[in-house]
Amino acid sequence: MSKSSISYSGVGRMAGRPVITDIMKVALENPEILSLAAGFTDTHSLPVSFVRDETVALCSSGGAPEYLQYGTTIGRPGLRRLVARRLSRADGHQNRSCHPDNVMITNGSQQALYLAMQVLCDPGDIILVENPSYFVFLELLKGLGIEPLGIPVDSDGRIDPDGFAVLLKRLRGENRLSRVKGVYLDSWYSNPSTRCLDNGVKEAIADVLKSVDLRVPILEDGAYRELYFRTPHSSSSIFALQAFDEFPRLFFGTFDKPFASGLKIGFVICDHAGLFRKMLNVKGHHDFGSSNYTQAIIQNALENGSFDRQLATVRSRYKEKMEILHGTMLEEGMRGHGWTWSKPDGGMYLWVRGPGNMDLGKDSLFFKSAVEEGVIYIPGDLCFASEGPTHYMRLSFGVLERKDLIRAGKRLVKVVKQFSGPLPV
Ligand SMILES: Cc1ncc(COP(=O)(O)O)c(C=O)c1O
Repeated sequence: MSKSSISYSGVGRMAGRPVITDIMKVALENPEILSLAAGFTDTHSLPVSFVRDETVALCSSGGAPEYLQYGTTIGRPGLRRLVARRLSRADGHQNRSCHPDNVMITNGSQQALYLAMQVLCDPGDIILVENPSYFVFLELLKGLGIEPLGIPVDSDGRIDPDGFAVLLKRLRGENRLSRVKGVYLDSWYSNPSTRCLDNGVKEAIADVLKSVDLRVPILEDGAYRELYFRTPHSSSSIFALQAFDEFPRLFFGTFDKPFASGLKIGFVICDHAGLFRKMLNVKGHHDFGSSNYTQAIIQNALENGSFDRQLATVRSRYKEKMEILHGTMLEEGMRGHGWTWSKPDGGMYLWVRGPGNMDLGKDSLFFKSAVEEGVIYIPGDLCFASEGPTHYMRLSFGVLERKDLIRAGKRLVKVVKQFSGPLPV
């Protein structure tokens, strides 16, 4: 029998195991563990009856059951029209790029991010990201041999335009500016930092890029834009900001977080025809179109108002859940041990900073103790572009129910106390 041999491509060689797989394995192996780690959505409020009724309605509607047939690579025309209209409305109709022709429906926004990176970057290229940033995107970049480079922030974690200009000049001095292929911004209730980017900050980023003549694609992620707790954040998308008129622009959105993550439908809007076409070609190679059936469900939810009703429900659910976790951590005295976090106005996370000397990494004693105590979190160092501080953690309050959120919060603070010195008197 001949010995088989396999030699992997560059992508195959670089494809590491996603870190979330290891972290979730801990939870799967021990059902007693309460997970504040993965960004799972609220199970209790998932739109079960809507999806059931919609399925029955679709299947009883007579005519050709086109929704069970292959669709098109770009996605259902009706859904693309609704996506364009929705984003345009969110931007106060100041958004001239929101044409259905610029919209592509994808398997979650994650696929769209991957398509963009495949089309734009070669190994060794650079994507500028906020620091911290969405860790699955950082892993995606590393898996393609792309270097994520953090945009400098001030001591409060706000983007520092002066530091950004210094970074770009340094890259120019090192002959690496041409390796920068894009800028990724998670603009609303960011994963993990929970902050929103104001228009002024975005415009400052555009000005710095222009000052070194770098008009690379801007990738704006709006995954949590509609998940505000009370009122929408005032900032516009990059499509509505003149400062970005000279840049190719991409906006990534999803129906997973606000509606039903199991349906796995997202989209990208891109105002650069050539880039859009390339991404579409690669999507053709991936799957020649996302599920036509799930797209039909989402389209009907948008058309008949069910989507907005669901959104109203999850907004109040997430607000309530955030208050429960935040309140438990406060009541249990976490702040008194030198831990800080801001209360977010939307999204699904708390971004928590421990005392400066703490190691909360996945191999740390703290993490092991948390697992022993029955609670897990996302170690914050995973969210930094390169070696980052180890004293942050991201907590997700999306999926656990009230009772379990309280238990998880108490368990976490118990570990915090184990690792704290005596309180000053
Ligand atoms: C910031 C951000 N962008 C994109 C995604 C991808 O989500 P999906 O593929 O479900 O649309 C996520 C998921 O957690 C996210 O947090």
